[in-house]
Amino acid sequence: MTDSIIDVQNLTKRYGQTIAVDDVSLRVEAGEIFGILGPNGAGKTTTLEMIEGLRQPDGGTITVAGFDVVRDAENVKRRIGIQLQSTSLFDHLTVGELVSLFAELYGADGSPGRTQDLLGMVSLTEKADDHAQTLSGGQQQRLSIALALVNDPEIVFLDEPTTGLDPQARRNLWDLIRSIRDQGKTIVLTTHYMEEAELLCDRIAVMDTGTIILCDTPDNLIATLETTGSISADFTGVQPDEALFAQLPGVQNASLSGHRLTLQTSNLNQTLIAFIETTRERRMEFDQLITTRPTLEDVFLHYTGKALRE
Ligand SMILES: Nc1ncnc2c1ncn2[C@@H]1O[C@H](COP(=O)(O)OP(=O)(O)O)[C@@H](O)[C@H]1O
Ligand SMILES: [Mg+2]
Repeated sequence: MTDSIIDVQNLTKRYGQTIAVDDVSLRVEAGEIFGILGPNGAGKTTTLEMIEGLRQPDGGTITVAGFDVVRDAENVKRRIGIQLQSTSLFDHLTVGELVSLFAELYGADGSPGRTQDLLGMVSLTEKADDHAQTLSGGQQQRLSIALALVNDPEIVFLDEPTTGLDPQARRNLWDLIRSIRDQGKTIVLTTHYMEEAELLCDRIAVMDTGTIILCDTPDNLIATLETTGSISADFTGVQPDEALFAQLPGVQNASLSGHRLTLQTSNLNQTLIAFIETTRERRMEFDQLITTRPTLEDVFLHYTGKALRE
């Protein structure tokens, strides 16, 4: 038995010769924002749509809110909300009409009051009488999230919700997704944006070529790397001696490029203090001191050997 709200075991899906999803197991806890992070073609959408009950698995089991997705699809459907990608079907309807239409399709409350509440939640109150096609990309995404919420679902599925949005619209959507989580709902989303996974998700499954490589909180994923960061500085006077800095505590690698020294370290704080002490003792002058911590990008590179570009 498990009290996870979603429990996926040994999920597999083939398309001809392609194994799109290869023996995937994962659990999602109630009330978290769970992200599936991976490049295009990793199998994110196929995994998500099998969990939603929209695609038939070739193998494995999926339990959502205690119900088997294949055998008990009706009970699952009542408890989930799915963000739709296409709004083009509804060009002739207004935002408010769309919300009440969807609510009625779901057998939910489509009254003007409820429609207003939903539009308020996604900051589209003023757009209620506008046609959906006149909305910006970010507004359309927010509308599609409102549509996913009409049946007051326990779990909301979002497939690449911020793809194509500008940075400001993306941040607004993150706030909206967090506020939905804070109402007690569980969110499962897919993304190929490292930063989004790192800043938005409580836990992340890192997916590549149909398999889940790692699954944990962003901090724990980053902590699996041996390095905890790097320090670099431009030396303005004497040329620094790499060997001297290579001996400092925690340093894994010291490299010099022109006047710029870079230290990889397994202990950023310790190395930074030693770096400052050493340069002060020897009166070595520098500027542009920068420290960096590893990111999920480094995690992905480390475990897959590939860079995940945005
Ligand atoms: N309906 C389909 N028919 C055939 N192949 C598919 C289909 N859907 C997805 N695939 C293939 O399965 C793999 C995973 O696709 P997908 O789940 O869409 O990945 P992602 O969402 O991570 O980009 C890809 O190789 C893709 O080409
Ligand atoms: Mg996809």
